Amino acid sequence: MSQKVSSRISGFYKRCLEDRLRAIEALGLLDEDARAHLAGGGGLPTAVADRMCENVIATHALPLGLALNFRVNQRDVLVPMAVEEPSVIAAASNAARMVRLSGGFSGEADPPVMTAQVQLDDVPDAEAAAGRLAAAREHLLAAGDAAIPRMVARGGGCRDVEVRVLSAELGVLVVHLYIDVGDAMGANLVDTVAEAVAPLVQRIAGGTLGLRILTNLTVRRLVRVTAAVGDDALGGADVASGIARASRFAELDPYRAATHNKGFMNGLDAAAVALGQDFRAIEAGAHAYAAMSGRYGPLSTWERVPGGLVGRAELPLAVGTVGGSTQVHAGVRAALQLVGATSARELAVVLASVGLASNLAALRALAGEGIQRGHMRLHERKRALAAAAPASADGGGPPSGEGKRIAPERGEGPRAVQQAEGGT
Ligand code: MEV
Repeated sequence: MSQKVSSRISGFYKRCLEDRLRAIEALGLLDEDARAHLAGGGGLPTAVADRMCENVIATHALPLGLALNFRVNQRDVLVPMAVEEPSVIAAASNAARMVRLSGGFSGEADPPVMTAQVQLDDVPDAEAAAGRLAAAREHLLAAGDAAIPRMVARGGGCRDVEVRVLSAELGVLVVHLYIDVGDAMGANLVDTVAEAVAPLVQRIAGGTLGLRILTNLTVRRLVRVTAAVGDDALGGADVASGIARASRFAELDPYRAATHNKGFMNGLDAAAVALGQDFRAIEAGAHAYAAMSGRYGPLSTWERVPGGLVGRAELPLAVGTVGGSTQVHAGVRAALQLVGATSARELAVVLASVGLASNLAALRALAGEGIQRGHMRLHERKRALAAAAPASADGGGPPSGEGKRIAPERGEGPRAVQQAEGGT
């Protein structure tokens, strides 16, 4: 996205769907295919779906919305989000608007290094075997690289080896190979390497070969983001203190941390789905990381500083701008054009920022009037839709036009909705 693009689009929520699309088209981010795809209502041709997974009988749609107001590492970013839950997009947009008053989100992602695991059981003298494997580091790296020559040619490849003895008594040992996968999420590459090096690992260590697969706990592919937000933007010092107390609650209590992290993942997952990422892998990695210390904790924290709060998040985030669904699914291609990330690392920083925004919005509501008032107002539109006649195949709702009366784009939403969407 060029620097000229602003993620602040005044009154976006008030416009009809077609006007919103026109406003996005005018930004010049979309190629003709993406524009036509969105103008056609999005979706996925069944012929494409039929080749994406098995036993296909139809497609399953979700609303695709845009989170506004995001500024990440000095770049304005439009964030496509696919989600069924009301208020997730509005809340993220609203929090992003508050954070941008203090300069927006900043962050950095580690190089895109994934981890392959090769399991061995019944290894005689596991500690000695681990020593032999460590000494064979260069051979193992070379064997791994030989399995992924195109990735190596593109500058990626095997970077490091680690050997972990899980149980000396049982002779259970695991070899990690760390692999730079470039701008891919990298699961297939990593699994290829794991299977390719496994025979050599076994020859060196002995024992019985077990699993050869990536771990989703990608500790060498972390992303870290931070954001400052002022008391005034939040609605006062009391709200800011309430958010900091809520954060401490999550640090002290795994039961609260689970819900805190759910709020964080609300935004991250919605963007990940729109952008064709493997959100199951992201979820698995995030929650495993949250428990890394031996006690499940929050992925993000908010600390009171003079005049406001500073939020921080750190988590593993294996995402790609190439491979997977990114080339296959027209909606994902459009979403990637909208978000404009030029690398997997940049995309990871955007996604983590969306998580931090969602988390801030949730804590602000919880620390203030509670989540239900604003949430239920947004939820009400969905409930009204459910109460109406079953939607027709074109999604148009009842012929009486009732569906239009409840549509947010008519500008009839309650003020809380408008505020939540951070529209103007
Ligand atoms: C609801 O989808 C998410 C929240 O429960 C998150 C939280 O409690 O922090 C509101």
